[in-house]
Amino acid sequence: MAPKIAVFASGSGSNFQALHNAIEAQKLNAELVVMVTDKPEAFVVERANKVGVEALAFSPKTYDTKAAYEQAVIAALQQRGVEWIVLAGYMRLVSEVLLQAYPNRIVNIHPSLLPSFPGKDAIGQAIAHGVKVTGVTVHYVDEGMDTGPIIAQRAVNIIEGDVEATEAAIHRVEHELYTEALNQILK
Ligand code: GAR
Repeated sequence: MAPKIAVFASGSGSNFQALHNAIEAQKLNAELVVMVTDKPEAFVVERANKVGVEALAFSPKTYDTKAAYEQAVIAALQQRGVEWIVLAGYMRLVSEVLLQAYPNRIVNIHPSLLPSFPGKDAIGQAIAHGVKVTGVTVHYVDEGMDTGPIIAQRAVNIIEGDVEATEAAIHRVEHELYTEALNQILK
């Protein structure tokens, strides 16, 4: 049986889309049972609806604590038999509550060669720093910001003077590398 995954996203959802496409094309052995977002207005919700993946939108502000928010998310995941959590542009730190419910079962993708340029706008940070090579990292999640054991990395050259082309190149690599890394660990 294919492992059941939930994809968490807060934005456009191009990585969600790539994972869905890889599963459909039988390049990724997983069942994408639900997309969870903390941003009900995010474009990823439209993408999920379009491809027929259940979208669960939470508004963390409406919970008294982060723990209460994550407990609600965990209940929804457990009801659906989710075994792995795949963060794909989920721009919120995961707390102990979620980490303990899914120990060593939460992974993240980040658009830099970690530990360089963690946090928001990693591509912008790399360009501003003047590095010539950046890349993509897939890693297990711990309580830190884009920390945790590295599963896979791939370098991407910065295209000087062309931010858009650099971003596009990084996203292309993300879409390939996430599938490869997940096939390696989802057993
Ligand atoms: C991706 O580049 C992902 O690596 C990044 O957010 C973007 C989401 O794009 N994640 C982080 O920066 C995590 N710190 P998407 O919504 O199109 O998949």
